[in-house]
Amino acid sequence: MALWMYEIEGARPLSGRVRISGSKNASLPLLAAALLADTPTTLYNIPVLRDTMQMKRLIEHLGAKVTFSQGVMTIDPSGFKVDNVPYDIMCEMRASFYAMGPMLARLGKARVSQPGGCAIGDRPVDIHLRGFKVLGVRMTRSAGYIHARHKGLVGTRLSLMGPKGTSVGATINVLMAAVLASGTTVIDDAAREPEVIEMISFLKAMGARIEGSGTNTLTVEGVESLRGVEYRVSPDRIEAGTWAVAALVTHGDVVLENVDPVACESTLELLERWGAELSDAGPNAIRVRRGKGTKKPLSIVTEPFPGFPTDVQSVFTTLLALTPGESDLRETIYPERFKHVPELNRMGARIKLEGSRITIKGVAALEGAAVMASDLRAGAALVIAALAAHGTSQVRRIYHVERGYEDLVNKLRGIGAVIRRVEEADVDPGLMVSSNDMYDAQVEELIAPHREVGT
Ligand code: EPU
Repeated sequence: MALWMYEIEGARPLSGRVRISGSKNASLPLLAAALLADTPTTLYNIPVLRDTMQMKRLIEHLGAKVTFSQGVMTIDPSGFKVDNVPYDIMCEMRASFYAMGPMLARLGKARVSQPGGCAIGDRPVDIHLRGFKVLGVRMTRSAGYIHARHKGLVGTRLSLMGPKGTSVGATINVLMAAVLASGTTVIDDAAREPEVIEMISFLKAMGARIEGSGTNTLTVEGVESLRGVEYRVSPDRIEAGTWAVAALVTHGDVVLENVDPVACESTLELLERWGAELSDAGPNAIRVRRGKGTKKPLSIVTEPFPGFPTDVQSVFTTLLALTPGESDLRETIYPERFKHVPELNRMGARIKLEGSRITIKGVAALEGAAVMASDLRAGAALVIAALAAHGTSQVRRIYHVERGYEDLVNKLRGIGAVIRRVEEADVDPGLMVSSNDMYDAQVEELIAPHREVGT
């Protein structure tokens, strides 16, 4: 069984230019939303990632014809007739749940495996289901599946408030159903993340009628049908934050190209407060350097947009682990999202975890070690730590990282990192830690044709 890892020789300043890829979390729902149209859609700037390739597989399973080359994905939805998402697909990627909105809107029914928890904690879908129910969907559960059907989606007023605030996924899923419902749907407590705004722009280009983009209340006038469009996915705000931190912890000088500064605002603001020098490097480009003076510890709370995003919390943990003084970080979106902490501590960090909060005592340096990624962003934090650390690190279970960072090895090499993607020679199938490990080999088949030679 082939499993891959990164071998990284750290403590080298990164320097040069790196281009931010298309956003993963925008691409995934847009690919699903292409199923809402009667005619083909072409999406540009789709990143080659395990998750986007998995979404391609899912929409093919649902009957669409999909082509993909050089970041351009064309989806012909005319064969979209399949109304189920089996467990095998759902358990590999939770974003598969985005199929439910289009299935209900176009097919009138859906049979979807109920997603479970994941490495970052419990991830329920109750808000999605509540939204669908209010639109007129009847649902039952059996044997781990949700069976849903309706006799016509009917617009109404609904709230997407949940125990931890609103939900990005539920806002997008319910929107996808509401655009083809009859009458007016008013969605209160909608999420305002850039990915939601992007979905609204995309749906409007397809012919949907939606007002209130960027606010917590969305008003949707249902339409009879939608048409396919050509659309360019915006840059990944989390990738931008990740490479910015990589530049800073390695004492580097890196220009990030293709950045959306509005989507990254809270991240960039915190980096400046920490002491980073961020300067304009041309249209949509930002130069990132440490700047002069002592770096300041931070006190951070993750919040819904426009607050500090949970998805860069882990890489900030690495940054603060190397910042003099005591920092603290509280996670309000996924209270258990700290799997990177024990691994960082093995590299010499001094981080104490208490409930959903960590206290970080800055150290002067980290030491290379063999560490294991348990999820995408935890993996990113470890890669960044390895780039800063003295000596060689091995970051294992990198399929998690490759869910969300396109062409990571080439990008890092392009700015001077010494990183190799190598096979873990001695993996005993008896030691596999999850079904994901088995899946790694299949994913490799999906991504390999798109990867440049030599990585
Ligand atoms: N929640 C519920 N019930 C629901 C849905 C969500 O209680 O029905 C809770 C969640 O458990 C969480 C909070 O509400 O505590 C927010 O979850 P949300 O639904 O907003 O998250 P999501 O849509 O499942 C997306 C991204 C995540 C990102 C979050 C928050 C995708 C595919 N995923 O997840 O990205 O962390 O929004 O911004 O877009 C990542 O990229 O690493 C990642 C996990």
